[in-house]
Amino acid sequence: MTLPLFEDAESGQPWREALCPGAVVLHNFATAAGATLLTTLHDIARQAPFRHMITPGGFRMSVAMTNCGSCGWLSDRTGYRYAATDPESGKPWPPLPEAYLKLARAAAASAGFPDFEPDACLINRYAPGARLSLHQDKDERDFTQPIVSVSLGLPAVFLFGGLRRNDKAARVLLTHGAVVVWGGPARLRYHGILSLKAGYHPLVGEQRINLTFRKAI
Ligand code: SIN
Ligand code: FE2
Repeated sequence: MTLPLFEDAESGQPWREALCPGAVVLHNFATAAGATLLTTLHDIARQAPFRHMITPGGFRMSVAMTNCGSCGWLSDRTGYRYAATDPESGKPWPPLPEAYLKLARAAAASAGFPDFEPDACLINRYAPGARLSLHQDKDERDFTQPIVSVSLGLPAVFLFGGLRRNDKAARVLLTHGAVVVWGGPARLRYHGILSLKAGYHPLVGEQRINLTFRKAI
């Protein structure tokens, strides 16, 4: 018999971890699709290379980012926003691949959000030492739609806080294939990623990739 305590993310078996009403981690939900998602990522990154964006406060983000979808998230000196074109190339962001859409919709449905129609996928790349400080996702127009966040590669500690910045944050280990979905009463919860620890993942190498799906417009 396996006790829930010993459920092992590395076993590759899917299991659910409820965080609060409206938020759940679907461990290993994307494990089987991982290789396909990563192959597609190479095509996206060729068209829209990863870059370190500048925050409105003038800091260079440690996480490298790109986007696919009909709009993409951007940060620069003037603020945060979604835009239909990549400012580096002047071209539209690469479209959301069918496999990405399918996975995001399936994860949302499994978490209780059956009508998820993402139009934006922010792609985050973490090298060892990269981190994302506590923030809310609030640049989107429609907060009735959830956030679907897919982790690939090296494990990371996800901070999942409350609706106020100072609320105590839970620490959740996200391994390759984990999908976090938060929406409804949890949609505006603060969250972040602790500084990535060095390591090696057989599919992804010395980094972590995160795909964050949103309905932005
Ligand atoms: C994000 O909040 O945009 C990304 C979170 C993550 O990398 O898991
Ligand atoms: Fe976020």
